[in-house]
Amino acid sequence: MTTPRAQITKAVIPAAGLGTRFLPATKSTPKEMLPVVDKPAIQYVVEEAVSAGLSDVLMVTGRNKRPLEDHFDRNYELEQVLRDKGDEAKLSKVEESSALATMHYVRQGDPRGLGHAILCAAPHVGDEAFAVLLGDDLIDPRDPLLTRMTQVREQHGGSVIALMEVEPQNIHLYGCAAAQPTGEEDVVRVSDLVEKPSSDEAPSNLAIIGRYVLDPAVFDVLRKTEPGRGGEIQITDALQTLAAEPSLGGPVHGVVFRGRRYDTGDRGDYLRAIVRLACEREDLGPDFRDWLRSFVTEEM
Ligand code: UTP
Repeated sequence: MTTPRAQITKAVIPAAGLGTRFLPATKSTPKEMLPVVDKPAIQYVVEEAVSAGLSDVLMVTGRNKRPLEDHFDRNYELEQVLRDKGDEAKLSKVEESSALATMHYVRQGDPRGLGHAILCAAPHVGDEAFAVLLGDDLIDPRDPLLTRMTQVREQHGGSVIALMEVEPQNIHLYGCAAAQPTGEEDVVRVSDLVEKPSSDEAPSNLAIIGRYVLDPAVFDVLRKTEPGRGGEIQITDALQTLAAEPSLGGPVHGVVFRGRRYDTGDRGDYLRAIVRLACEREDLGPDFRDWLRSFVTEEM
């Protein structure tokens, strides 16, 4: 049965992955703490949740959880030093992250997959629809995807995933959706999902990206979901069950996102995100763009 379409207030941010693509930087630091210009990637993600009206944030952490918790906590010593120096600008940067949202933490003992990380949120979420934001996927704040996804959930019930059109030769890097059009240009009805298919097997070029609005029925499905690809419990497999059996928790829709997104879990995309965002910054941008222009002319 689909639960009533109450307003969504809770966000879950899984941040317990091993981050092996960023070793050795992630040996003792979660990859979500890597800075994008001068702010850890995870802070952009929490800011995005808050601007979509989700101020109750549960972070699923693994080993090395301390830096994440500390970042969203007060740092009285540093605050006092900056206050004594009268450095209000830096003080507000320190205070900003601890005042953003009501933060909660749950530990995922073993990194048994994204589906398993989401299941760790069940006691906190209860019987409400909730959003999931992957800590290594940055969505540009000028393209508010999550707000659109919560609207689609309010309209259709069930669960809503975020999709992005990719080149067919890149679909093997993503979960992929078989989908039918709806009356709305940016919304599709999802009938099937396949995790990382080869380009021959892929039912479309619609790739799943790291934002979800989920019906709480997903928890029961996840409890019964066997480890899939890579021996991990995959959220894609649970969503496939929901898409095939709408009586379990309503339909699955997809919002096709055409805005700006940076996959900071991938080293190349991480570097591109930093360059783009640095170029756009009012304080750093003008000098950095000049340097970049001459670097490209001289070095390339
Ligand atoms: P990834 O597939 O990017 O895996 O996880 P990873 O371990 O973080 O990174 P690599 O591939 O080894 O470099 C996608 C998201 O799911 C979370 C990660 O923290 C990331 O936000 N995740 C993944 C968990 O929270 N728990 C898991 O068991 C697996």
